[in-house]
Amino acid sequence: MISYFKYFNIILIFILIESNRLLQIVKVDHPFSSPLIYIKIDNHTKLNDLLIKESYEWKRLDKGNDKSNKGNGWQSPETLMLKKTRGFRNFTDIIPNAAALAVSKINPQLQITDYTYKANAWVNINQKGGYNSIHHHGEFHLSGVYYVKNSIQDYDNGKIEFINSRNDYNIHKVIGGNAFSTSIRVTPKEGFMIIFPSSLLHLVHPNNTNEDRISIAWNIKFEKKIS
Ligand SMILES: [Fe+2]
Repeated sequence: MISYFKYFNIILIFILIESNRLLQIVKVDHPFSSPLIYIKIDNHTKLNDLLIKESYEWKRLDKGNDKSNKGNGWQSPETLMLKKTRGFRNFTDIIPNAAALAVSKINPQLQITDYTYKANAWVNINQKGGYNSIHHHGEFHLSGVYYVKNSIQDYDNGKIEFINSRNDYNIHKVIGGNAFSTSIRVTPKEGFMIIFPSSLLHLVHPNNTNEDRISIAWNIKFEKKIS
């Protein structure tokens, strides 16, 4: 005997099939989204070699900052933009261009040339056991992280995890999908940069390998030029 619920389901499926003949999605908006923009730097090997050399040299001379870095993690002062050595200089030239590219995806109408910016940047060297606790860079607009050295990748090793601070869990546990997930984990890849809203909470999982992981993080804030 067919149950009431099965009968109801059959009707529902029939209604859906009929509706699909009549309905068409006109537009899907993504208001209040947390865009993650992935940028690859072509031919990054030479640049990364210089960045590795200059990062270790900086670490040798400076005991570093004590911020979100935990365990065996060294974080340089946030003064990378002022460095004059070749690798650091080449990289800091990339930061405003990468940020402008990200903005062009977030708001294609914006005239980025009408804006100036303030930025800071620093190096992270995470040795075995090094990680970054949960934090955000909320006083800025966009933040980025570039992976200079991350040779070994396994399931959680060194992943950056972005946390959804909205109360979407009840939606996600039923329908799934990235839009409502409680967090997402991204595997760092050498030569890649991830750009995200500075207000987005994130953490970095421990480096479980014997090789150092080196990344460069940056923040940028835009200001409209006075005409
Ligand atoms: Fe961060």
